[in-house]
Amino acid sequence: MSKCEYLLMQGISKSYDGTQALRGVTFSADLGEVHALVGENGAGKSTLIKILSGAVRHDTGQILLEGKPVSLDSPLHAHRAGIRAVYQEFSLVPHLSVTENILLGQMPRRRFHWWVDWAAAHRQAQAILDELGFTGIDVRTPVSQLSVSYQQMVEIAKAVAGRPRILILDEPSAVLSQEELKRLFALMKQLKAASTLILYISHRLNEVFEVADRITVLKDGEIVGTVRPQDTDEGQLIRMMVGRTLGEFYPKREAKIGGEVLAVRGLSREGAFTDITFSLAHGEILGLFGLVGSGRTQVARSIFGAEPPDAGEIRLEGKLVRLRSPREALQAGIALLTEDRKRDGLVLSCSIRDNISLATLPQVTRWGFLDIGRMDARVQRQVQDLAIRPPQINRLVRQLSGGNQQKVALAKWLLTQAKVLILDEPTRGVDVATKVDIYRIMSDLADQGMGILLISSELPEILGMSDRVLVMREGRLVGEFSRAQASEERLLACAAGLLQ
Ligand SMILES: Nc1ncnc2c1ncn2[C@@H]1O[C@H](COP(=O)(O)OP(=O)(O)OP(=O)(O)O)[C@@H](O)[C@H]1O
Ligand SMILES: [Mg+2]
Repeated sequence: MSKCEYLLMQGISKSYDGTQALRGVTFSADLGEVHALVGENGAGKSTLIKILSGAVRHDTGQILLEGKPVSLDSPLHAHRAGIRAVYQEFSLVPHLSVTENILLGQMPRRRFHWWVDWAAAHRQAQAILDELGFTGIDVRTPVSQLSVSYQQMVEIAKAVAGRPRILILDEPSAVLSQEELKRLFALMKQLKAASTLILYISHRLNEVFEVADRITVLKDGEIVGTVRPQDTDEGQLIRMMVGRTLGEFYPKREAKIGGEVLAVRGLSREGAFTDITFSLAHGEILGLFGLVGSGRTQVARSIFGAEPPDAGEIRLEGKLVRLRSPREALQAGIALLTEDRKRDGLVLSCSIRDNISLATLPQVTRWGFLDIGRMDARVQRQVQDLAIRPPQINRLVRQLSGGNQQKVALAKWLLTQAKVLILDEPTRGVDVATKVDIYRIMSDLADQGMGILLISSELPEILGMSDRVLVMREGRLVGEFSRAQASEERLLACAAGLLQ
């Protein structure tokens, strides 16, 4: 090493009861750089940054800042050392307002110290959001009522409000739209210029190439290497990450599109979306694109019976249905993979087995008894197909890495044998190799006649997998493109209201 870098993590090992997450990792990074960490799901990225932010204790090794050993045994210690993290899992306090979350522990007080100056607090929080360019958030709203992307912006604002030396962003882009991502990148540039070290974790390699000064690859708890973007390319990086080259990235097959399976007419819900009309055929993958806040998720939730619409009708194979709850939707044959796996996707305190089988119990019940053998075999197969790691079905979902949690959520719906499968951001937080697996499974399901509505903010994914693409903007459908007509520029322009 030529000179002493600001951060040095030396010989770091960590095991979680039995799982060796990190094996003697030595990692260094310097102020004024964006240093990306990449690797497969479960490679140890989050564990490494959690050790730095004091959220997790390491078993061996030491951490040095400016060449001096420091002990970061608690988040408070890390905080004092100028380290702030935005975690993959949200850590906001749901029932508190945006303001309280951003200013947690540093609320402005009036004369008597217990008397919070609310007007000043809201102004201060608003100013922080404004400065970051994160608009459209009412600082008085409880965080639990915000969409996940707004929650993510609040997380980032909270971290940046502390003016950190080291800012850690673990998969921040997974829930942000193109527009917000641009703002985040601009913000990162400013922070970098002000000599902040930014550790950036992402599964989207194009992003990593755009923002990183250096990229460190982790695999199975070890460092494979550190490279500069200009000296490498995506292919080489993927080989370093997964140890092999990947086949066709979007294994989309020529679709055998059948009759209409789902028809939505004039669907409206006050304050969310207006007059949504479209149809979906058996065997079709229909993309639904739009900027964050355009209403895509609400439409999905309405079709799934989670938020019944005020007006309009839904037909399933020609039959009018009135779905007043997700249970009714499931019984009718509609399944939804939500964008927020923590809120309504998974039960973190239950095992992989219980989570995956939750939605499919009726199918493995015989004469009222649960056929455990059959259930386990089905769960086991999903675990294999999706390469869920570690592949032990008794493992609690809480103990899995972020990407593996997402795979469990997906597996649950793949087993339901629904007629219509709605996927809201299905590959969020999932590594490149697994993405390809998920796309392959989507293709298989469509082949078997399932109608799939794919909601995604990742343009390459929408373009790569959809037979047809709908675009939403401010609660309305504003465009429809065939697979041949759709292009990045067109979809973006349409979603932004620049194209008629
Ligand atoms: N609380 C925990 N208890 C038990 N094992 C855990 C826990 N947290 C993580 N692990 C295990 O440690 C390993 C590394 O996980 P980590 O979360 O660091 O991966 P990651 O690289 O961040 O993956 P992803 O891309 O999916 O977020 C995985 O095998 C995971 O199952
Ligand atoms: Mg992680």
